[in-house]
Amino acid sequence: MKTLITNIKQLVQTEKTPRKWVAGKDMAQLETISHAYLLVEGEKIAAFGPMEELDREEIEKESGILKEIDATGRLILPSFCDSHTHLVYAGSREIEYIDKIKGLSYEEIARRGGGILNSAQRIRETSEQELYDSALIRLEEIAMYGTGAVEIKSGYGLDTESELKMLRVIRRLKESTPLLIKSTFLGAHALPAAYKHDQTGYVNLIINEMIPAVAAEDLADYIDVFCDKGFFTVEDTDRILNAGMKYGMRAKIHANELDYSGGVQVGVKYNAISVDHLEYVGEEEIDCLLSSETMPTVLPGAAFFLNMPYSPVRRMINAGLPVALASDYNPGSSPSGNMKFVMSLGCINYKMLPEEVIHATTLNSAYAMGVEEEAGSIAVGKWANFYITTPVPGIEYLPYAYGSHLIDAVFLKGEQM
Ligand code: NIG
Ligand code: FE
Repeated sequence: MKTLITNIKQLVQTEKTPRKWVAGKDMAQLETISHAYLLVEGEKIAAFGPMEELDREEIEKESGILKEIDATGRLILPSFCDSHTHLVYAGSREIEYIDKIKGLSYEEIARRGGGILNSAQRIRETSEQELYDSALIRLEEIAMYGTGAVEIKSGYGLDTESELKMLRVIRRLKESTPLLIKSTFLGAHALPAAYKHDQTGYVNLIINEMIPAVAAEDLADYIDVFCDKGFFTVEDTDRILNAGMKYGMRAKIHANELDYSGGVQVGVKYNAISVDHLEYVGEEEIDCLLSSETMPTVLPGAAFFLNMPYSPVRRMINAGLPVALASDYNPGSSPSGNMKFVMSLGCINYKMLPEEVIHATTLNSAYAMGVEEEAGSIAVGKWANFYITTPVPGIEYLPYAYGSHLIDAVFLKGEQM
């Protein structure tokens, strides 16, 4: 099956020479082609270019059904890569949302047994099938919002069986949907009630029991730790990442959301693929990231929803760093996986330019989840994961019209959804 899309007003984030990420002032430059065509063959992008270069005879000469779409007035962008989510969960937490409105802090709610522990209790009471069904609905929702690749974490189980249950759900989602999915083991998300007074005991359980069990079923691509004030220390993180790496799980961690936690430094020490949140980032963290292969990843939805200080994204980009943006879709701190809204938040709250938020939600976030060779740009050989907008004036209009859907058609693995 081939699909030829013609008369595209602007084909955005095209890539002739593969790049692993875009950093610093290059983030303000976006490669686009005006009045373009795009050819999809099977699951992949087969060709693209300006309409003048379209060799229709050549395409028609080859056998196979050819479907044609006229995209006059419309833009095509590569699907969003959402490199940080917790979208497998049970129940929702709107009661805590009301507590927050009334003035309780995230840490106060956590201390009362709310927060992550509330979700952990519910996960234990929910079957694998029910978890799968509810996560599938969320995945279908974000796919229609333009997401084509997503990383999903465990971390609401907090005991071996429940963590494995979450990761098995993620594996089923990988096998049964056309999204590109990566899985992350996050046993060290919070201290479960049973280990309230024995943090070292829980870390030992993660290292000695959970990690080998996860590895035995090959359930995780990455290993995560919530390395922050009131959660896991640098020493805990060091031990857990070290153990995970022995089983081939690369680090990808929650860092510096609540304080200068040392999370960035320990992440870089273990060559983490990304360090995420980054509300507390100073010169030391920036210098450390500059000499690394670690993608700084900011989660604007969580900072917005929790009313947290904003990460110094402009300083990071001005220092020459790449930055990725992701949704953090989860029931507690970011109950939305809408990456188009994340782009708007990037522009409004972090003073990023439209070009910069496009890089941050496509190619850079693809790197942050290890799929930059398969997704994140319009490039020959990459997965045909992209969306066609409604008629819009130009790319700036997408983050500007923050509440409008503006997505007319979604393609995943070459198929229109
Ligand atoms: O990424 N920061 C840590 N964990 C999640 C919050 C999860 C929750 O509150 O359920 C986050 O924001
Ligand atoms: Fe998170």
